[in-house]
Amino acid sequence: MANPCTHLLLFGATGDLSKRMLLPSLFNLDADGLLPECLRIIATARSVHDTPEFVAIAAAALDQYVDADRRDPAKVQRFLDRIAYVPLDASEPAGFGALADAAGDKANLAIFLSTAPSLFGPTITGLSGSGLAGPGVRLALEKPLGSDLASSRAINDAVAAAYPEDRTFRIDHYLGKETVQNLLALRFGNALFEPLWNARGIDHVQITIAETVGLEGRAGYYDGMGALRDMVQNHMLQLLALVAMEPPAQFDPTSVRDEKVKVLRALRPIDRHSVEGCSVRGQYGAGAIEGQPVKGYAEELGKASQIETFVALKAHVDNWRWQGVPFYLRTGKRLPERSSEIIIRFKPVPHSMFGEASLKPNTLVISLQPDENVGLSMMAKAPGLDRDGLKLRSVPLDIGISNAFADVRRRIAYERLLLDLIEGKQTLFVRRDEVEAQWTWIDAIRAGWEATGMAPKPYAAGNWGPTAAIALTERDGVTWHD
Ligand code: BG6
Repeated sequence: MANPCTHLLLFGATGDLSKRMLLPSLFNLDADGLLPECLRIIATARSVHDTPEFVAIAAAALDQYVDADRRDPAKVQRFLDRIAYVPLDASEPAGFGALADAAGDKANLAIFLSTAPSLFGPTITGLSGSGLAGPGVRLALEKPLGSDLASSRAINDAVAAAYPEDRTFRIDHYLGKETVQNLLALRFGNALFEPLWNARGIDHVQITIAETVGLEGRAGYYDGMGALRDMVQNHMLQLLALVAMEPPAQFDPTSVRDEKVKVLRALRPIDRHSVEGCSVRGQYGAGAIEGQPVKGYAEELGKASQIETFVALKAHVDNWRWQGVPFYLRTGKRLPERSSEIIIRFKPVPHSMFGEASLKPNTLVISLQPDENVGLSMMAKAPGLDRDGLKLRSVPLDIGISNAFADVRRRIAYERLLLDLIEGKQTLFVRRDEVEAQWTWIDAIRAGWEATGMAPKPYAAGNWGPTAAIALTERDGVTWHD
């Protein structure tokens, strides 16, 4: 492990991510005594403020986003005392000198870039030009890291010119979620599942990330991306890789990421020939969420658009373990509920001795959010004298993670990721070859949409996407787990 850093440089410090996630996460770590004693946080952004002004902004963010019972005034003060603010126009190389001065001896520095993609290039040039890319410096990058393989390569090349891969930390905040890491514990900490975790034991896999929110004022970004690039390219493919990968020999950055990238490279391309049968695009129209009327996407945007706010895919991993097992992926905005889950549907028993009694195959439901739950449906005998024959019913075997670990505070994903960055641990960050394999697969789908003229189908806000998404699985005799 690298030495914990002594300086953390936070780009985009006045932005939404910083206020909602990064500053509260850093405060939480500090309050729990997890930050290095000497850590200084140098916040930077374009807005011109002095340190006291920025500290007031940070204090307001903590008031808004940290639970009141955690905001011990002494701890808040100790945290705020760590902060200095240096205004910077990242497109002006001259400004980086002041940043370098504030960053101490640069022997142990972590930099967190949460800036517009157009500023990546100039920022990296400015950083390396002012001595902020030396051997003791780690760089974390927040998405979007490009919008296709070519642009992602250009960013990766620019980064690689200044920071080697072992000092580059690409963030996918899903990897910081406790339940996502729990997937590894479930698969590789239990002997129970592994013998069945393959095409002989599993019928299909479903991964859903459903959101109720719409554009959230992010029109400029979202309308250039759409659901496929915003959610599938990163979060969903990372989840798929964790579900499908071979057991890594060690829980270390190389072993885990080697196994994930093999899965990503084994994804069967969905191209112009298969895209119509394997993908569904949707765009929400007006409807209702939690009983409240909401506008359609185009109306929110103020113009017509061909961008999808929903996507459903039927994917395959072409290797021995997963031959013939469909992975159904689905994500969208303005769906009926916020829920992320992974469903593993096992194969039915080969023969039922119970005759007519309907046996349902076992299903493992891994709920990531809002509730953290792992449930396994099992067939059990319904109590009774069975004069009309034995009755069986599917009953859940549930591990409510929040109950099982009731005494442990649930942490924000960024707490884990920031601490790992500060301590130099790369396992939960995405390696370049993973990102590029992800983009390769996504670009083929987009090219297929383009070639076949596949436009998004409408769905009313508050529904589970267009009806074609239901047909995508029903054709295979599979029903989405709603
Ligand atoms: C982000 C996407 O990466 O993830 C957003 O850009 C999306 O569009 C968000 O809303 C979802 O994250 P979470 O943690 O709320 O599920």
